[in-house]
Amino acid sequence: MIKITINGKIVEATEGETVLEVAERNGFFIPALCCHSDLKNKASCRLCLVEVEGKFVTSCNLTVRDKMEVKTKSTSLDKARKINLELLFSQHREECGDCVWNLKCKMLDLAKQYGVKINRFNDRKKDYPVYQFGPSLEFDSSKCIDCRNCVEVCKDQGVEFLEMQERKGFCEIIPSENRDCVYCGQCIIHCPAGAFEAVGEFEESEKAFEKNNEDIILQIAPAVRSTIGEEFNLPYGSVLTEKLSSGLKEIGADKVFDVSLGADITTIEESKELFDRIEKKSLPMMTSCCPAWVRFVELYYPNFIPHLTTVRSPHIILGGLIKESVKGAKVVSVMPCVAKKYEIEREELMINGEKPVDYVLTTREVGRVLKRKNINLKNIKASSLDVPFGEPSSSGVCYGMSGGVMKSAIKNATGEDVKLYEKEEGIYEGEIIIKGEKRKVAVVHGLGKAKKILEELKKDKSKYDYLEVMACKGGCIGGGGQSIPVNKDIREKRKKGLQFAGEKKKIEKAEDNEEVKKIYKSILKSKEIIHRFCHTNYYKAPKRGFKKTK
Ligand code: SF4
Ligand code: SF4
Ligand code: SF4
Ligand code: FES
Repeated sequence: MIKITINGKIVEATEGETVLEVAERNGFFIPALCCHSDLKNKASCRLCLVEVEGKFVTSCNLTVRDKMEVKTKSTSLDKARKINLELLFSQHREECGDCVWNLKCKMLDLAKQYGVKINRFNDRKKDYPVYQFGPSLEFDSSKCIDCRNCVEVCKDQGVEFLEMQERKGFCEIIPSENRDCVYCGQCIIHCPAGAFEAVGEFEESEKAFEKNNEDIILQIAPAVRSTIGEEFNLPYGSVLTEKLSSGLKEIGADKVFDVSLGADITTIEESKELFDRIEKKSLPMMTSCCPAWVRFVELYYPNFIPHLTTVRSPHIILGGLIKESVKGAKVVSVMPCVAKKYEIEREELMINGEKPVDYVLTTREVGRVLKRKNINLKNIKASSLDVPFGEPSSSGVCYGMSGGVMKSAIKNATGEDVKLYEKEEGIYEGEIIIKGEKRKVAVVHGLGKAKKILEELKKDKSKYDYLEVMACKGGCIGGGGQSIPVNKDIREKRKKGLQFAGEKKKIEKAEDNEEVKKIYKSILKSKEIIHRFCHTNYYKAPKRGFKKTK
């Protein structure tokens, strides 16, 4: 422990901490925009200035030292911060009404606090390019404030699709001609300026509720229940499954089902495939619920494609079953994810030429539609989800966080809980006895860490027998379609909420779920039908690149 003085008060700090961290922990306010708990501090916004020994320095990348004297408040500090904030606004084209940050924008809050008149600046021209990455993301360069968070997070994901170019005195971000996006959406949630968003974010979401005599059926992903409350300023980790169901019904859903029940079917099929692969010696088996991870393998590690489980992701399975049960229904998935917008377009997932899911709306989009229709989940009465696809096991609910898929499949296969140990941030390992033999398993979140594991598996395929990968940190609770902001603490609170939701379920194991048993008896009656609804095959992905839309 060392001691530093902030505004005349002595406080304790740990070696290696930044001045910003220590100040925030002790209740001193410092404006900060570009720093993020997931990323290295590049100190690019220069708002977090403090005074140390008569000099102005950025506090997010300044590590504490014993007896350091820090000032966080003074007229000249405020003046310097205001100038830096004005510089950011001079780069950024505001489109506040349609921005992913909307009512939560830190830039706007700081503008109010520091008296910056944002319309004083000539906005960047609207002719700055807008790029579209596949069916999932858009990047509007006229909003970019050049903090480089997106480049760093994309590099951290092992994808390196975003690059810097020098232009007109500013470094600007461009998509790479040589790499391709996997649609994880991490750039959206790490951009403080709203320059990234889902394709058609908000403008197109109401289309999902347009009715032409068909039933509109919504299905809620596991991870959305513990994050949608943030759209209504409820505490992080609040669980609102039933309230969300009521809200969706008020805006036109005929029925609301739970993707976690689809997860129970994924679990059963995946545990069967694990036994099968053990017998055929075709290990390691790798999960395939996360479409950004699947795309990562298809694009950059195609030799591992045969190791991806053939089991479809839960909302794709449930979507197919819903359409089989309610002919002509329109199926809308409420997802934490922008990669799912791409997944529903994959031809190999169609059943008799029809998409199992017609629309994917993110947590943010659903929050916005509800608010536009004056529905506040804080006040609405809760209502149960519908039968027959509304009552999952606790395993199914836990799919929303890293480790949930593998733990469920192993529990289902062996009746045992697999214990995982953190090897390093983002990588967990464990061992479990299956059919009398010790099996090595790993759970990974974040594609950068997955890349590391794949490189190891390239050298030694027997290193793991079963691998779960989720592209986003923490799994889907940290997904690119989730409510923003997202950071380490927030992911932790969401995870607790989801665990709580899982613990409340009476059924632990997927195959003990009576509703699931009925589905196997009534629809999934033969191997051929199970294959059609629950399995697929993956192929080397064609490069899709990007297009300029403006
Ligand atoms: S979606 Fe993911 S892979 Fe694509 S640009 Fe953003 S961070 Fe990179
Ligand atoms: S697009 Fe966003 S995250 Fe990327 S550099 Fe610009 S402001 Fe930063
Ligand atoms: S981890 Fe979840 S939210 Fe993130 S890309 Fe994968 S499926 Fe989507
Ligand atoms: S928060 Fe420190 S420079 Fe941006």
